[in-house]
Amino acid sequence: MTRTVFVNGAYVPENEAKISIFDRGFLMADGVYEVTSVLQGKLIDFEGHAVRLERSLNELDMGMPCTLDELLEIHRELVRVNEIDEGLVYLQITRGSDGDRDFAFPDPETTKPTLVLFTQSKPGMANSAASQKGAKIISIEDIRWGRRDIKTVQLLYPSMGKMMAKKVGCDDAWMVEEGFVTEGTSNNAYIVKGNKIITRGLSNDILHGITRAAVLRMAKEAQMEVEERSFTIEEAKEADEAFTTSASAFVMPVVEIDGATMGDGTPGPIAKRLREIYLDESLKKAI
Ligand code: PDD
Repeated sequence: MTRTVFVNGAYVPENEAKISIFDRGFLMADGVYEVTSVLQGKLIDFEGHAVRLERSLNELDMGMPCTLDELLEIHRELVRVNEIDEGLVYLQITRGSDGDRDFAFPDPETTKPTLVLFTQSKPGMANSAASQKGAKIISIEDIRWGRRDIKTVQLLYPSMGKMMAKKVGCDDAWMVEEGFVTEGTSNNAYIVKGNKIITRGLSNDILHGITRAAVLRMAKEAQMEVEERSFTIEEAKEADEAFTTSASAFVMPVVEIDGATMGDGTPGPIAKRLREIYLDESLKKAI
């Protein structure tokens, strides 16, 4: 099926969608993005993603090309016309194109941002085989730039990290800076000790995950203890459990870190429980 995508105000078939070769997203990775999951045809935590998008744009002196209500309407329309039951809506806003390449930003009065959205259908996402098996993780050095709190499209190093993991038969990589885990290539990282969930605190060093905020809130509501602090790979290897969170994989149990098996090598009870709670609660509030 040919998808319908949204490009700068128009709904078009994916093979007719066009943006300029001078677009700064293409030439400079000068753009931000959001990924919102869809379950039962509804958007999960749209508001959280919209608020983070506004923040990312603000941090980069970029304008919002339309209102949040309009953005919601575009998300819903794409889910409807593409008949997405389980999947994702990807949104990207770049600084646009003034018809040439230049390091200096173009004048925002005359150069409009580029707005692109498309859907990805992922049937079975809520109950994926990957989540039942759990993920095998390797650790790699975090050599990304210093504003990881801004959700930019500069994803080359995270992609390389994912490939480094695949090359050695693993699923993903956790990045380590000055001895402490920052986050996964496309997710936030957690360990569990007893009833306590430990995850790095928010700063410019990591993306402020929308799933992270929801999962920590739900964990506290379920009387679990939450400690926001940095941890090392050594501590992670000795923890009872580990997991990651993201809009695309929800709560993903981790069963191996740098070759060390977590527990009995199957998803831990707290990660499994949090995944269930997250899916249940998020669906109730989905729009
Ligand atoms: N990635 N950290 C990084 C580096 C990420 O890229 C992501 C999300 C997260 C989790 O954020 P959230 O819970 O808001 O999805 C943390 C998305 C899913 C992606 O790039 O596809």
